[in-house]
Amino acid sequence: MEQKLKNQIAIITGSSSGIGAGVAKSLAEAGAIVVINYPLPGGLDAANNVLDEITGSGGKGITFLCDVSKEEDVLKMFAAVIKEFGTVDILVNNAGIQKDAPFEDMTLAQWNLVLGVNLTGQFLCAREAIREFLRRGVDDSRSKAAGKIIHMSSVHQEIPWAGHANYASSKGGIKLLMESIAQEFAPKKIRINSICPGAIQTPINQSAWGTAEALKSLLTLIPYQRIGQPEDIGKAAVWLASDDSDYITGASLFVDGGMTLYPGFSTNG
Ligand code: BGC
Repeated sequence: MEQKLKNQIAIITGSSSGIGAGVAKSLAEAGAIVVINYPLPGGLDAANNVLDEITGSGGKGITFLCDVSKEEDVLKMFAAVIKEFGTVDILVNNAGIQKDAPFEDMTLAQWNLVLGVNLTGQFLCAREAIREFLRRGVDDSRSKAAGKIIHMSSVHQEIPWAGHANYASSKGGIKLLMESIAQEFAPKKIRINSICPGAIQTPINQSAWGTAEALKSLLTLIPYQRIGQPEDIGKAAVWLASDDSDYITGASLFVDGGMTLYPGFSTNG
């Protein structure tokens, strides 16, 4: 099979589990050399498991400890990756967390933690990636673009989410972060897009699919009548990172089985 990302260097934040792990596997299958980022020392085993799976099927990569909400950590990660591999071609700004609470009980710590990882983390990593893309410029032997950034947003950049105001605010912020920098750097041939996943079967939303009853209730929100899998997002990420999508920048690609189609209106309204 043709490898559309052959030898391109891809940093995928938060890729020791969930959607990030799925994206790392898909990018590696498409030939990218992947940096599997994990946020805490205790995550090393999980990151190594993802790497083992990748190398076991002929892919290449490394693991890297970095808390994306900390500027110092992010600077170190990019410097180390550039030192080892020469450059970075693809950033998948994926790391994200939920700290849900009824709004009247939400603590400043819960607010700051979610905004810190989900939005500030995406800012810090995007800035470092862009600095490297501007330094290198377009190298035709790698890609038509000087670099590609994929922000992992959510259907909740559109759908309000009671009890999750910090999370939804972070995703709404990602939308205009992505669009603003896509506009700013298109003339430099840097492509910046978002993927907006719906319900994907990962640890972050286990309460929504972990029992038959929960899954039944979740499926009332998904016209396509199945929960998503990490590889659904991985395949979209490969396409957005490859030259097949060379004329696409500033787009939000919803990968959600129709969750944003107002399913409640199919029998009402
Ligand atoms: C959240 C999941 C949720 C999904 C659909 C995602 O962004 O992280 O917990 O299941 O949106 O509501």
